[in-house]
Amino acid sequence: MIYETLFQESIQNPEDFWMKQAQNISWFEAPEKALSQDEEGLYRWFKGGKMNTSYLALDYHIEQGRGDQTAIIYDSPVTDTLQKITFSELRDRVAKFAGGLQSLGVQKGDTVIIYMPMIPEAAVAMLACARLGAIHSVVFGGFAPHELAIRIDDAKPKAILTASCGIEIKKVISYMPLVREAIQHAEHKPSNIVVCQREQHPIELEENESDWTALEASGTPVEPVAVDATDPLYILYTSGTTGVPKGIVRDNGGHAVALKFSMEKIYGTTTGEVYWTASDVGWVVGHSYIVYAPLINGNTTIVFEGKPIKTPDAGTFWRVIDQHKVSVFFTAPTAFRAIKKEDHEAELLKNYDISSLKRVFVAGERCDIGTYNWMNDHLQRPIVDHWWQTESGWPMLADMMGLEEAPEVVGGSAGKPVCGFNVHILDEGGHEVTKPNQEGFVAIKLPLPPGCLPTLWQNSARFKSSYLSMFDGFYLSGDGGYRDEAGNFFITGRIDDVINVAGHRLSTGEMEEMISTHEVVAECAVVGIEDNLKGQIPVGLVVLKDGVGIAEADLEKELAAMIRHEIGPIACYKQTTVVKRLPKTRSGKILRKTMRKIADGQDFKMPSTIDDPAILDEIREAFQEHKIGNAFQS
Ligand code: COA
Ligand code: AMP
Repeated sequence: MIYETLFQESIQNPEDFWMKQAQNISWFEAPEKALSQDEEGLYRWFKGGKMNTSYLALDYHIEQGRGDQTAIIYDSPVTDTLQKITFSELRDRVAKFAGGLQSLGVQKGDTVIIYMPMIPEAAVAMLACARLGAIHSVVFGGFAPHELAIRIDDAKPKAILTASCGIEIKKVISYMPLVREAIQHAEHKPSNIVVCQREQHPIELEENESDWTALEASGTPVEPVAVDATDPLYILYTSGTTGVPKGIVRDNGGHAVALKFSMEKIYGTTTGEVYWTASDVGWVVGHSYIVYAPLINGNTTIVFEGKPIKTPDAGTFWRVIDQHKVSVFFTAPTAFRAIKKEDHEAELLKNYDISSLKRVFVAGERCDIGTYNWMNDHLQRPIVDHWWQTESGWPMLADMMGLEEAPEVVGGSAGKPVCGFNVHILDEGGHEVTKPNQEGFVAIKLPLPPGCLPTLWQNSARFKSSYLSMFDGFYLSGDGGYRDEAGNFFITGRIDDVINVAGHRLSTGEMEEMISTHEVVAECAVVGIEDNLKGQIPVGLVVLKDGVGIAEADLEKELAAMIRHEIGPIACYKQTTVVKRLPKTRSGKILRKTMRKIADGQDFKMPSTIDDPAILDEIREAFQEHKIGNAFQS
């Protein structure tokens, strides 16, 4: 099927298009209609359909005779473990663990927080919740107690499922002190904590804490509970522009239909192939393409507990691809930058046979052309950059590699709109930017296709104000970008206070809220500047209160420790510079983007509304003095 025909069909007649796609999953009761609107006018997909996502990911394949196929390969260079779990074994574990959760009182509609490292139990936990119709909310294991506490208070879980530790490069991170501290901070107190004990760091359990293995062993296997297609499968919190993260809701029906479609038409993979996403289940990429999509599509998925480098070396990815005969591989560009830094000529690649690999996908941040070229030169197969967000749950822009005529990949571009995504570039007034190569706001004409967020968890007002209010009839993505003459899209970066550090989405607004609580800080701004490894890193600019005395180096250390403790080490907040004043518009808006461009050494137009242009020279001097930003590195 040629892209243009399929895409137009999806936009002109979404009802028929998605009803057809819905036939590719197995329903308990098939929906009679694809698209509807709820009482608030929000779009819903497949209302009336009944199904179960855990059934689709497990039982369905066993019924089709694939019970003995490997569902999960757990490859953990940090613990030197390799384990294979078949679909039958995984179904049995999930069914029993669901029974264990049921014995704790977890049932359909309840929420459960999952705070886990990259071990198969993380997938077991997600699928067990799905089996019961309970709503899981996975919190990335790198987040600090404060962040976990915010999510506990918003999701109000009946249980928290966790492990005794996570393992990072050469260090064991004890999880229970973090979980206990989070619960202490939170107002909502979950009644059960289930702990997966790991031999690297077993922990003595306290009251309310139960052992995972015992719970799973004693569980009476549970059959998949029928849920409505519109019932939530999960909530995934993601950074917005403030300290309060957004609870992205994912439904069951639209999600399954969209993921199934994407595996075939975007990733071009078929049932039985090994599909590997090197990310973390704590991020949307992990939800969709480590757990749900590969399993729904009957692929073998890899749960990889390691890093692109140092576990043990920059050849790890090639080793995994070779050893498990990976067909499609997906990760963040930052991972390839890390490999490129350690093994510039890809010497380690020569030790492995990666002939099974058909193509590589990257997302999570912009893939800079240097990294793209490096991958292209060394891997010599299609390198596909594609664009998506926690909100969408699956790619919005991509080269759809599963179509009969696979498109030619254009380096630097995130591809063309995926079926169902009516992507536009709008100017500030909401008018279409018709000229090619002219930047604007990337917005998507409603309705969004299946799989995308129908709303925010118990907060449709915030959903409407954050995403739907700026341009009537459009979803605001929060990214800027442009389209070239051939219709390829290029994403240029966020238009708000969200940054991407090594593919981890973080809020500079939240960091500012924290820094401003420091006793010497009168005012501050945090900007995300370019970093050659992590894509972006945050730096702080601080104006001190009158009359306070603190050595700049001490303040820098204190603020770094504060952000590390409150958000987590993944924030990579290290640099702070003290300035006399912050550049602002006459109406008082801090010119963060202009400061970012100064640090990155990019051209910028002097904002016409700037209060005092001389402040920008002071900022430049401060960056220069502290060697902040690529512009001032040498
Ligand atoms: N749990 C606890 N701590 C974690 C963690 C986790 N799951 N993940 C990262 N951290 C910690 C690290 O140990 C490190 O701590 P340190 O400051 O004490 O050393 C800190 O957070 C920063 O980690 P990271 O961003 O991973 O940086 P790094 O320098 O250790 O590694 C890369 C750099 C590029 C190898 C790494 O960031 C990477 O693999 N990135 C790919 C990310 C990815 O796949 N994102 C998916 C989005 S699609
Ligand atoms: P997250 O919700 O964590 O997946 O982060 C989504 C954000 O990451 C997007 O809004 C973009 O800013 C950025 N992003 C994701 N994929 C890409 C890509 N292929 N190119 C550029 N930016 C991307």
